[in-house]
Amino acid sequence: MRVALTGATGLIGSALVRRLRERGDDVVALTRDAGRARSSLGDGVELHEWSDPERQPPPASALERADAVVHLLGEPVAQRWTADAKRRIRDSRVLGTRSLVAGLAALPADLRPACLVSQSATGYYGPRGDEQLDERAPAGADFLAEVTVAWEREAAEAPVARVAIPRTGVVLAASGGALAQMLPPFRLGVGGPVAGGRQYVPWIHLADVVGAIVHLLEDVRAAGPVNLSAPNPVTNAELSRSLGRVLHRPAVLPVPGTALRLLYGEMASIVLTGQRVIPARLEEWGYGFSYAELEPALRDVLAPGEQRG
Ligand SMILES: NC(=O)c1ccc[n+]([C@@H]2O[C@H](COP(=O)([O-])OP(=O)(O)OC[C@H]3O[C@@H](n4cnc5c(N)ncnc54)[C@H](OP(=O)(O)O)[C@@H]3O)[C@@H](O)[C@H]2O)c1
Repeated sequence: MRVALTGATGLIGSALVRRLRERGDDVVALTRDAGRARSSLGDGVELHEWSDPERQPPPASALERADAVVHLLGEPVAQRWTADAKRRIRDSRVLGTRSLVAGLAALPADLRPACLVSQSATGYYGPRGDEQLDERAPAGADFLAEVTVAWEREAAEAPVARVAIPRTGVVLAASGGALAQMLPPFRLGVGGPVAGGRQYVPWIHLADVVGAIVHLLEDVRAAGPVNLSAPNPVTNAELSRSLGRVLHRPAVLPVPGTALRLLYGEMASIVLTGQRVIPARLEEWGYGFSYAELEPALRDVLAPGEQRG
């Protein structure tokens, strides 16, 4: 299969590139900086520069004759949400997807990929307490939910046979992401449940994000929104306890929500609220999770020197 990726240099993208190359697929990566991408992705990946995704469609040569496109790019969400950061978080996704769709529409129909897998996030559902959320649940209304709704709407316009929209949860990986940011206090033995700890964390191991995206590329039934989160979501308090056990550290010091709001402002809502997401469609299609339970997933990503993506 020939697969074109945006965001190929990121946490998810670089693991997906590795997996596709192991399978023998041809990988084409679109990036804002080909020099940096070459050193992070190595040889064997065809690189195309797409310097301004918000304003220009990607080069046709990157998309034509690809069997599928996986669209992952986006400004990092885990940063202080100043007005400018919020604009970048929104525009990189909404306008970037619009540009990609324009690039696909400009291709002659016989050179157009059949499938677009366009990233989304469980933030689509907004803060929802302990409500169980499958793909039919309605969208939330906070900042991330509004961005995500607009992001998905752009992707759905793609003139391809099939658009799959993975609503991805909190990715557990050794090489970065949410866990890397949470770990320092836990390693010092001063970690603990955040703001009471009752909010759900829709976690998923990086290996399953990659496995599920490969499934979406191959399964012709895969279209529309698909929750990418483990079948056993846990509360923030359960996540803290598991982290404590895996790291052999106490994890009982409660972290007050007000402290996080002071430190991180509005962005703290990412950890202060959550979603109890159920991967209903992946389960219906028989996707076999490598990590369905949290503790083995944590043991794997925290094992020194190991990273399976
Ligand atoms: N990691 C998670 O837990 C998680 C959960 C749910 C959803 N997601 C979503 O999945 C996607 C990939 O996640 P990730 O963790 O792999 O992200 P990441 O590591 O931050 O990488 C994203 C990539 O997007 C490109 N990029 C960054 N800022 C950009 C901007 N302002 N405009 C255009 N391109 C930009 C970069 O590629 P170049 O520098 O090569 O252009 C970067 O490598 C993101 O959209 C993210 O929101 C992630």
